[in-house]
Parts: sequence; structure tokens; C-alpha cells
Amino acid sequence: MEYRHLGKTGIRVSELSLGSWVTFHKQVDTNAAVEMMAEAYDAGVNFFDNAEAYASGKSEEVMGAALKKLGWRRSSYLVSTKFFWGLNEGINEKDTLNRKYLLEAIDGSLTRLDLEHVDLVFCHRPDSHTPIEETVWAMHQIVESGKAMYWGTSEWSAMEIVAAIGIAEHHHLHKPVMEQPEYNLLHRERFENEYARLFADYGYGTTTWSPLASGLLTGKYNNGIPEGSRATLDHYDWLLEKMTDPVALGKVKKLGKIADELGVTLAQMSIAWILKNPNISTVILGTSRIEQLRENMQALDVVAKLSPDVMDAIDKALT
Ligand SMILES: NC(=O)c1ccc[n+]([C@@H]2O[C@H](COP(=O)([O-])OP(=O)(O)OC[C@H]3O[C@@H](n4cnc5c(N)ncnc54)[C@H](OP(=O)(O)O)[C@@H]3O)[C@@H](O)[C@H]2O)c1
Repeated sequence: MEYRHLGKTGIRVSELSLGSWVTFHKQVDTNAAVEMMAEAYDAGVNFFDNAEAYASGKSEEVMGAALKKLGWRRSSYLVSTKFFWGLNEGINEKDTLNRKYLLEAIDGSLTRLDLEHVDLVFCHRPDSHTPIEETVWAMHQIVESGKAMYWGTSEWSAMEIVAAIGIAEHHHLHKPVMEQPEYNLLHRERFENEYARLFADYGYGTTTWSPLASGLLTGKYNNGIPEGSRATLDHYDWLLEKMTDPVALGKVKKLGKIADELGVTLAQMSIAWILKNPNISTVILGTSRIEQLRENMQALDVVAKLSPDVMDAIDKALT
């Protein structure tokens, strides 16, 4: 496992990390979380991603209980949470980055995780109804209070991120230092184009999500929807359209042939392809079973196989 600086910060994250969206609580109970997190940690993973909204707070409870059982030295790992959607229906409690919500939300997450601080805290989406200045001051206060070490954004536009950095610099506040965007073989535009100046001019860090496009980039959806897969779960039927899209499936099949020729799985090749990008700080894996984690972690050995010719072939398969 290699470690990359989280943007320009002094903190280093393992190039592969483990997240809990969909999986923790719904598919992965505390015992399974302990097993997966231990496997990842023993392989060098030092970052575990979470969010208030995941399983309506239950994902944080599962991770907190797992961390308690694992008993690792707190300084040896990083945990994140994220805020935006909220857990309650009140007018000021959902779909917002207002100051009151954020300052109350961090306390709720710390209680559920049973931690004194998280390491990374993200604004899970931009909020066009709250001034960015209000959000920047609130996030600064969370960091200043010691309840989080670094703050960042998730799926903000480059323009919103630059605005937040500018406000923070103007007032000498803690500025956002990392973005959590979707990035995978089927979703490249924003990361590679819109964010290019964020990386070049600001050294912004990245913790990227859905490396396998929710499983599509394993090839498991090539012949229909497999029993028990994410697309069959309650409340995830919105994924069905994506998993049966003939254009995407055509690309996945072509990519599968390249992976076969390399003697690796498509999941491993897809994750290794992301790791080749120098603007990645860490790729957050999602796994519902330990066997998937074991397979996907081996992507680390596949990076060296992605020669310029293979990278060209991958680009061609996507056109
Ligand atoms: N900031 C954000 O807005 C945001 C959004 C989404 C995710 N995230 C973060 O990113 C993390 C990863 O995202 P993700 O879970 O969508 O990642 P992903 O890698 O795109 O999808 C993971 C899912 O694909 C299937 N899978 C993974 N490896 C497999 C394998 N080798 N063989 C067969 N199936 C496999 C599993 O689902 P099944 O077994 O159930 O089919 C697994 O849960 C999340 O846990 C979360 O921490 C952040």
C-alpha cells in the first residue's frame, strides 16, 4: 500500500480506502464490518469513509461499534463523515449547509461513531440556499473546535470550491482541502476537466467514490440483474436504468476483454486505472462481502500492468 498526501495537507491517506454507503447496516452488520475493516487495515488502509445520511445514521453506529471492537490506536486511522441531507424533516434540518444544522450535526455524528473527533468532514453537496460564507465559517468552527481535523466538499462545482477557498483565505479561516467526487471509467468529465485547475492551482485533494459505478464495472450486470446485487435492494431500484443501459454495458463488455487479456478482473483493472491518475489522493472502495474486498485490494498489483498501450486501449473501448 502506498500513501498519498491529501492534496497539499500534511496528512497522508492510503491510496485505497473503505467506505460504508449502502453496505454498512443494510448488508454489513457490526461483525462483518469488523472483519472487513480489519482486513483492510492489515493491508495498510488508514481511511474509513462515512456520512450522517448513510442508513440514516446507522452506518455511523455500525462503524463506531466496529472501531470499539477493533480497539486500534486512534492516531493510526482516519474516519470521515459528511453533512447535507440531515436526519430530520424540519425546515432547517435537511438539504442544507446552514450554520445551526452543521454545528449540531457534528455532535450527532460523534455520538453515533463514539469518537471525540472525525478526521475529515465533508459538505456532502453544495447548498444554493445558504451563503457559501456562512458554511465556510461554520466548517472553520468545527475544525477550530477540534471536532474534525480537515474539511472538504463533495460534488461541489469548481466555481463553488474556489469561492469557498477565497472566502477562507480572506478571513484567515481553515479552508476546504479536499473534494469527494464520483470518478470511474464511466464518469470522467468533471474530475478530468472541470477540476483540472483545482488540482493545478490549489493542490486540492480527492477521495473519490463509486470506483466500480456501483458494481457495473465488475461485469456482473452484463447478462441481467444478479440476485442479491445492489440494484435489487429496496430503495435502490433507481440504479436499474444505469445497470441496464445498453451503451454503458457495451463499454463494460469491451473493457472486460482488455481485463481478460491482462489476466485480471474487470473490477481490479477499473480500480487500478483510477490509481494511475496523480490527482487522486485515495480511491474509496465499497464492498458488501469480504471476498469482494480481497479481490479489489489486489488492484494495487495491477497498476504496473497498465502500460501506455493498455491505457490507450481502455480509452478506445470507452468511445
Ligand atoms: N460523497 C458521495 O456523494 C458518495 C457517494 C457514493 C459513495 N461514496 C463513498 O464511496 C464509497 C464507495 O462507493 P460505492 O460503494 O458506490 O463503490 P463501488 O465500487 O462503485 O460499488 C460497490 C459495490 O459494487 C459491488 N462490488 C464491489 N466489488 C465487487 C466485486 N469484486 N465483485 C462483484 N461486486 C462487487 C458491491 O455491491 P453488491 O454486492 O451489493 O452488488 C459493492 O457494494 C462508499 O462506500 C462511500 O463511502 C460517496
